[in-house]
Amino acid sequence: MTKRALITGITGQDGSYLAEMLLGQGYEVVGMVRRSSTVNFERITHLMDDIEFAAGDLLDQMSMIEILRTHRPVEVYNLAAQSFVQTSFGQPVLTGETTALGVTRLLDAIRIVDDSIRYYQASSSEMFGKVMEVPQTEATPFHPRSPYGVAKVYGHWITVNYRESYDLHASSGILFNHESPRRGLEFVTRKITHGVAQIALGQASELRLGNLDAKRDWGFAGDYVEAMWRMLQQDTPDDYVVCTGETHSVREFCELAFSRVGLDYQDHVAVDERYFRPAEVDLLVGDATKACEQLGWTPRTSFAQLVEMMVESDLEALKREHGA
Ligand code: NAP
Ligand code: GDD
Repeated sequence: MTKRALITGITGQDGSYLAEMLLGQGYEVVGMVRRSSTVNFERITHLMDDIEFAAGDLLDQMSMIEILRTHRPVEVYNLAAQSFVQTSFGQPVLTGETTALGVTRLLDAIRIVDDSIRYYQASSSEMFGKVMEVPQTEATPFHPRSPYGVAKVYGHWITVNYRESYDLHASSGILFNHESPRRGLEFVTRKITHGVAQIALGQASELRLGNLDAKRDWGFAGDYVEAMWRMLQQDTPDDYVVCTGETHSVREFCELAFSRVGLDYQDHVAVDERYFRPAEVDLLVGDATKACEQLGWTPRTSFAQLVEMMVESDLEALKREHGA
């Protein structure tokens, strides 16, 4: 029988890769999209004919109840969120409504409409924040450092709570940073690779960044969506850390990205206080042993391959845009 999955956040980076993967496996994919004055389907234009779209919003519970009643998915992947950490400091209440309470609205909608639906919650390594141990595992206590991180901790625990209270098949993937050519331009990796491409093509000379010493465990989004799917194929729901186990600084990312086009990042990167955060997450590095042993999941893309893929993609896109 064909399986039907609902993806919230289908217009985002992960939503686009997950939709691709599920369609490739023969799923019917329903994508929840919120109303906006201009359409925002750049990441899924190649999938438009294959996805069924449903209007809804994490801020509006009735819309999600209606979608579940109409489309009857057997799996729900909740990827929608206000996902940018910097914005969460300026809009903490909206971030809480969407990234925290939005999870309860969706879980309750599932409980009301069909409690046999399998649910995936997009939890985050940002929950570890001021890390209590290195590397971070499923057992590491949380100490979030941003309104976004706090909201994700709520989303994580309400998922665990609904699993324990109502026996929902609800799993939480604690994913470390994952990037791709489809990453939003505001996130540091894509900001760097786009900036590198502009500088290499003579369209800019400088790239302004914040804290170059922050360290992240960066993987490729295309690899990570597979771990989400594997979680929902288990007999028992659970929580899993998904990461590469390697950490690199923003400075190292810059060094490698600029060196791909024969440039020295020190000649082009300027530090700008505007991009510093009120509280920072200095170091993230995870241990994905549980995901490896129980889900059979391992990352396939190395840090160097990721940086190269993103720089190449931005170079190609800018050349196309400027008819070069
Ligand atoms: P993203 O590119 O920012 O996509 C976020 C998605 O959420 C977009 O489709 C957006 O729709 C949608 N959205 C935002 N507010 C909404 C609302 N009120 N109702 C319905 N949809 C809404 O994020 P991503 O990188 O794909 O990440 C996917 C999920 O994983 C997020 O929950 C994120 O917090 C989490 N996560 C990401 C990472 C990472 O490194 N990428 C790591 C750990 C966890 P519009 O297109 O309309 O804005
Ligand atoms: N965005 C940005 N812009 N970050 C910068 C800049 C800059 O100009 N300069 C330095 N940084 C530093 C940030 O201070 C942070 O320490 C690091 O680069 C990574 O920032 P982001 O790329 O914005 O990602 P994030 O780690 O804050 O959050 C991402 O990963 C989380 C998982 O740990 C997002 O995808 C979250 O949604 C996700 O949950």
